[in-house]
Amino acid sequence: MKIEIVILAAGLGKRMHSALPKVLHQVAGRSMLSHVIKAARALNPYAVHIVSGHKSELIEAEAQKYAEGCTLCCHKQEQQLGTANAVAAAADALCDDSITVVLYADTPLTPVSEVEALCADLEAQQADLALLTCELDDPTGYGRILRTADGQVTGIVEEKDCSEEQRQIKEINTGIIAVKSSLLKQYLPKIGCNNAQGEYYLTDLTGLLAADHFKVISRVSSDFALLRGVNNKLQLSEAERTYQLMQARRLMTEGVTLADPARFDLRGSLQHGDDVFIDINCVFEGECVLGSNVHIGAGCVIKDCVIGDNSVISPYSVMESSKLKQHNTIGPFARLRPGNTLEDEVHVGNFVELKKAHLGYGTKAGHLSYLGDSEIGRDVNIGAGTITCNYDGANKHQTVIGDDVFVGSDTQLVAPVTVENGATIAAGTTVTRRVPANALVLTRVRPGTVIRDYQRPRKEKK
Ligand code: UD1
Ligand code: CA
Repeated sequence: MKIEIVILAAGLGKRMHSALPKVLHQVAGRSMLSHVIKAARALNPYAVHIVSGHKSELIEAEAQKYAEGCTLCCHKQEQQLGTANAVAAAADALCDDSITVVLYADTPLTPVSEVEALCADLEAQQADLALLTCELDDPTGYGRILRTADGQVTGIVEEKDCSEEQRQIKEINTGIIAVKSSLLKQYLPKIGCNNAQGEYYLTDLTGLLAADHFKVISRVSSDFALLRGVNNKLQLSEAERTYQLMQARRLMTEGVTLADPARFDLRGSLQHGDDVFIDINCVFEGECVLGSNVHIGAGCVIKDCVIGDNSVISPYSVMESSKLKQHNTIGPFARLRPGNTLEDEVHVGNFVELKKAHLGYGTKAGHLSYLGDSEIGRDVNIGAGTITCNYDGANKHQTVIGDDVFVGSDTQLVAPVTVENGATIAAGTTVTRRVPANALVLTRVRPGTVIRDYQRPRKEKK
């Protein structure tokens, strides 16, 4: 079947009360439009047509971002005169031998399986138009499906045009249709605007085709939660929760333990090993990978990170674009800005900020430090209050710390600077020059005092 998809995205979205066009509002960190384009692409269409109008440059730019590898055509609806008028903006570009599927960009959770089934029904029953409908206890706000006594669809009536009796109908129009493109093109010009809103309703197509004895069929879906249009911020939040709960359920069936699936947010993808535990109110963004036996504490925000096996991220840590190997312990209240690599058994404690830092095996930065643009060896102890002064007001510079270095509390490392293996920096030191291997450097006695071959106190081995 040759399928073309028309995505309607021209509406103002008045009910959102926002400068941003409605379909650019986000669900799970990406626009509603992008979700619908993703669904459209999963149907393997011949072409995807986007109809935009209000702030069309923004809509088209967003659509292009998700168009790679598919034929995307953008059309402009000059005035928002209704859904039929919107489809008409794309009509000339539709092939005569295709099936047109109309999707609404304000229906972000559009389920691919339902649309596929609708198209399959159209083909199997050799119908001309197929409607996707739902039966609701509370149909308020939706177009109602009209049928004859023997169940034949005869039309759709918008709520604002309903008689008292029609208002009682529980079967509603989801807005999604599949129709022979040639018929759509032929009948669109016949749709008028003599209705309560003075708009050209795409829904009138159904009545016109039925009256001319074309075969109109319907598919009743039980997935209303996914087929709901978003018209205001309340419905946007409902779509968000529905989506998040679906992801939470999937992850739990895959073996992830979520402390509370209602307090979990994934705005991207999450790969995981076995025995992962995620406490409440965590947000995952971008592409995250968690190894096995990883424990994420409450309130963490983690974006584009890889966290190795047996690592523990304690509460309220914020991490971005960082790679952690195994047995790391991070936080609480740690901040990892982009570009860090942490080898095995690294500890980063509270109020420690890292940026473009590489920490070697077993290195520990327990408290209150800033380590930026730093190459730090293995088994290094970074004392509380250590700061790499990486910025001279114009440029960033590198700090290099060798293996087995002890950095005392309240140290400033004025980059570019190197501290060689085994060196000790006494508390309160401002390091501005290379520290030789195994030396002790301290500035609190006499500026620049260096004691060579200093023997640091060692723990007695038991
Ligand atoms: C529409 C349907 C209604 C259905 C409901 C399902 C019509 C007339 N009504 O109502 O039967 O129950 O969806 O959610 O179709 N749009 C344009 N150009 C326009 C007007 C709208 O592109 O001139 C786009 C909007 O951006 C939106 C979609 O079409 O993505 C639906 O428009 P909206 O105004 O939200 O229609 P509803 O009143 O929800
Ligand atoms: Ca709507």
